[in-house]
This record gives sequence, C-alpha cells and structure tokens, in this order.
Amino acid sequence: MNQGHVICDYEGTSYRARFWEGQGREYEDLVERIALRRLLPPRGQRLLEVGAGFGRLADLYAGYDHVVLLDYARSGLLEAQERLGRSDRFLYVVADLYHLPLAPGTCDTVVTVRVLHHLVDVQSALRQIAEALRPGGAYVLEYANKRNIKAILRYLLGRQAWSPFVTAPYEFAELNFDFHPSWMAHELDQAEFTIAAGLAVSHFRHPLFKRFASPRTLAAVDRLMQRVGAAWKLSPSVFLRCCTPGSGSAVAGDLFRCPICGLRGLAARGDTLACAGCGAVWAVTDGIYDFKTPVVSP
Ligand SMILES: C[S@@+](CC[C@H](N)C(=O)[O-])C[C@H]1O[C@@H](n2cnc3c(N)ncnc32)[C@H](O)[C@@H]1O
Ligand SMILES: [Zn+2]
Repeated sequence: MNQGHVICDYEGTSYRARFWEGQGREYEDLVERIALRRLLPPRGQRLLEVGAGFGRLADLYAGYDHVVLLDYARSGLLEAQERLGRSDRFLYVVADLYHLPLAPGTCDTVVTVRVLHHLVDVQSALRQIAEALRPGGAYVLEYANKRNIKAILRYLLGRQAWSPFVTAPYEFAELNFDFHPSWMAHELDQAEFTIAAGLAVSHFRHPLFKRFASPRTLAAVDRLMQRVGAAWKLSPSVFLRCCTPGSGSAVAGDLFRCPICGLRGLAARGDTLACAGCGAVWAVTDGIYDFKTPVVSP
C-alpha cells in the first residue's frame, strides 16, 4: 500500500547475498555494530527496526522484550525469519514506513540503519517514527553524509561538480541520497526530535585502507575516532541518538493500527486482521503481518 511516495523496492533483490556476503564489507558491518551498541538504550519493552531487511543487526536488541522488524520487502523479512526463527519476541511486519501500522506511543526505541538514504521525503518518515515512539523514546538512526572528507577533497580538486557544502540532499543514484549534517539536524528538529548523541562512522571504507589492514584493525581505529570525529562529521556515515519530547511509558494494549485510516485495535479473524474503520483486511501469512496490500480493500 503506497499512497504517493516513490519507494526503493528491495523485493526479491537478495540484498544479503548481493551486498554483504563475501563482498568485502566486514569492516562496515563491524563499525556499524560498534556505533549502534554505543547509542542504543540497552533495555526496553519494545524496539522497532524500520527497514530491517534480513535482520542483520537484530542480535544487538537482546535487552528488549519485544522486537518488531518492519520492511517493505517481504523477501527480506522471510530471510530474517529463517535466521531468527518464529517466536513471541520477534514480530515480522511488511509495511511502508510512510504509513506505519504501529499505534502511537507503543515503542521505546526505533532504529533505522541504511534506510533514510532511500527516502524522497525524510520529513514524513521522521513524523511517522516520532508518532510510534513513547514520550522520551529513543530514535537511533544512520544517514549517508554528503559532507564527507572524500567528497570535500574531490570537490576542492575539481574532480566533482556538486558541492558537499550545499545543504540540500544530493541524489547520487536514483533513490539514493546523501545528506548534509545541518540539513538532517534541521529535519529532526522540525519533527520535534532532540539530538542527544552522535558518532562519525566508517572512516576507512575506501578500498585503499582495506588493502593494507584487516577489517578488525580498521574497525578498532574507527572505534577510537567515532566520538571525537562526531564534532566534525567528515565520515561517510553518521549515527545519531535522538529523543522525543517528554517522558513516559510505552502505551500498552493493541500494537497495530490500520495504515489506511489510522484506527487502533484491528480485529483478528482467522489469518487476517480487519479494520472496523475503513473495512480493510490485512493478511498474516507464515507468521508475517502484511500491511503493504490489503487482501480486502476499503
Ligand atoms: C540498504 S537496506 C538496509 C537493511 C538493514 N537496515 C541493514 O542495514 O542491513 C534498505 C532497506 O530499507 C527498506 N525500505 C526502503 N524503503 C522503505 C519503505 N518505504 N518502507 C519500509 N522499508 C523500506 C528496503 O526494503 C531495504 O530492506
Ligand atoms: Zn482502516
């Protein structure tokens, strides 16, 4: 179900095999885990990962009672389910992040890693995420940094036409955006998030570094640079921990809301969830909740 936004569709793309497995990205995986461990509130009742893919980072959520892995691509979530198994702890949800099917205030923590760079409308996504969080909830996010050292050098040497200092997002390939740190800070502020902490991540992803040092060595040096580097943010990847205003507990009760009309409290009917508000019916197939396309439309 998509009303209006162009989506970078990963359905059936074998993202894991194509991008991670044997692709020389062990270093990126290691440094992202270091950053996430540093920023993630260690415990909570419910964590929602938006754009979770095949659940690459799910082992870092051990301190949470319930983990919702949400993605637009069912194929990714099927892989996640194969890896992590079916249990009451993990919930697999196919949905569009512009229309989250989560009731307001039900999550303690939301995570997005390698997701924002695919979005044409970051502001709408941030508002959906803020709504799903409880007051004082944490949003840990990663974004691709436009003003990184490589882009700056290339620009100053005349090898790159676009300026890394211009704050507007730069679309380097279709539906792939790099963001300026000031622009992202402004967007977060508009969505009423406060930035509580930040890390500069993945300084050594250039193949030249990888040729001379092992992923573990590079990750160990990156670890040393993440906090101090956050002051300048010259790395290609930036992680932030933000919070929503106020403080309070996560809302108990029904987790889902209808992504079409917003009604909370969908009625379970066999292998479906039905919305009494608009009449939409959503399928639950093989343990995966599907809020992408209703089996019965309103
Ligand atoms: C580069 S992958 C990252 C996956 C995972 N976060 C990781 O780091 O391994 C981007 C993910 O974002 C998901 N995605 C992109 N647009 C989305 C949308 N509108 N709603 C939900 N998920 C989306 C894609 O399906 C894909 O799984
Ligand atoms: Zn509805």
